[in-house]
Amino acid sequence: MTKQNPPAVTTGPDRVQADPLAEFNPLPGRDESVNSSADPEVRNRAVTTVDQAARSVANQPAAATGANGSRFVRACLRQRVDRTPVWFLRQAGRYMPEYMAVRKHHSLLDICRTPDLAAEVTITAAERLGVDAAIIFADLLLPLTPMGIDFEFVANEGPQIHTPLRTAEQALNLRTDRTGELSYVGRAIEKVCSYFAVRPRTEARYPRPDTLGIIGFCGAPFTLASYMIEGGSSRSYVETKKLMYGSPRTGEYPFKGDSGSYSLTNGSDAWSILMDKLITVLTDYVAQQVEAGADVIQVFDSWVGALSPSDYREYALAPTTRLIRNIKALGVPVIYFGVETSTLLPLMRQTGCDVLGLDWRTPIDRSWRELGYEVAVQGNLDPISLFAPERVLESRVAEILTAVDKRPGHIFNLGHGIVPGTPVESVLQVVQQLKHA
Ligand code: CP3
Repeated sequence: MTKQNPPAVTTGPDRVQADPLAEFNPLPGRDESVNSSADPEVRNRAVTTVDQAARSVANQPAAATGANGSRFVRACLRQRVDRTPVWFLRQAGRYMPEYMAVRKHHSLLDICRTPDLAAEVTITAAERLGVDAAIIFADLLLPLTPMGIDFEFVANEGPQIHTPLRTAEQALNLRTDRTGELSYVGRAIEKVCSYFAVRPRTEARYPRPDTLGIIGFCGAPFTLASYMIEGGSSRSYVETKKLMYGSPRTGEYPFKGDSGSYSLTNGSDAWSILMDKLITVLTDYVAQQVEAGADVIQVFDSWVGALSPSDYREYALAPTTRLIRNIKALGVPVIYFGVETSTLLPLMRQTGCDVLGLDWRTPIDRSWRELGYEVAVQGNLDPISLFAPERVLESRVAEILTAVDKRPGHIFNLGHGIVPGTPVESVLQVVQQLKHA
């Protein structure tokens, strides 16, 4: 068997040819190498080939078999873990010099669309931080392109959609048959899995709690629709809500899942068509990511906090539930995350997600109690507390750990993404605190 070169990681630690994990090797004859990170948890991650990583998903999803022993996946399923797993929203981003070094030569979309670069950025962040999960480097808006919506990232202004969607006719014209064009994301996931030697999920002696979890992701129907309709970021979501309120449907939502079956003359409306098509595309897209080796899928509903509970129940709950049900049918746990959601959490729970991502404004102890501890929770440090002095930051982390009281089903994270300018040392401090808690 020939040795697989890892993707072009230009900034990671050196790798040496040794295999201290030989006793864990479930595939006889497999070549592995390890890296020489100072952190033993990082050092113990081995490298295997893309083929082996692809075989490892072999239609035996982690949640279905219960065989995935990573502490991150176990926590998603509310199983006992040796210590609280930790990763960070936007852990590979502009605060990190290694990311900026790559970004100097490539646009954001180039990085997303080049599997070697996306894998490199994903791996470098996970190794540098020593976290328990790596989220694939991609962007929420990538699925818009195969749907026929053009956009670009304008420096300092965020995403701009060239022709915002405002009518049922435009919704009817959205394509749902070109999701295969997003295969570069799956290829990047395969490279990350290969690098970190994700173990076969059917392997009986799998349990190695330090195995890195690989997270795939997509946007939720509401949040993606809001970008398509507003044309970019928004404060008040006037256009999105106008389109939403124009939908005659309430509560029970008519999924067609086939763009051929809409007819404007018998009452199909823009919001319902848009929701249907997004679900179709996102389900295909996520299936590609799971097939490539993603252990868990995070559904980002970043801007759903713009909805009142009534509007959420009427216009967002059913499509989101449908999407999450489809993802769970692929056999992986689902993390559902939004910002300013404390009043929406009981409804968001009804989607059937395994984990609720809490924003930093939400009191984690009270919210989890009110949810009856029947769902795992992820969060929820204020990302700006990473700018505080060591002592203050340490006490904020400790407060969260005290609030969750070692109950199974807590994944430590921020309550929203790391912002540019965040000191990397502060992020490392949090990881060390979690590892020694
Ligand atoms: O490690 C990681 O989390 C990085 C992977 C990642 C990116 N985008 C890359 C990116 C992830 C998980 C996302 C998700 C994403 N994209 C969300 C949901 C997460 C959240 O923050 O709520 C949203 C809303 C988007 C859409 C988006 N992409 C916006 C609004 C912006 C501009 C905002 C800004 O800070 O400039 C982006 C750009 C973007 N996507 C960046 C990164 C690292 C920063 C810009 C750059 O590198 O040029």
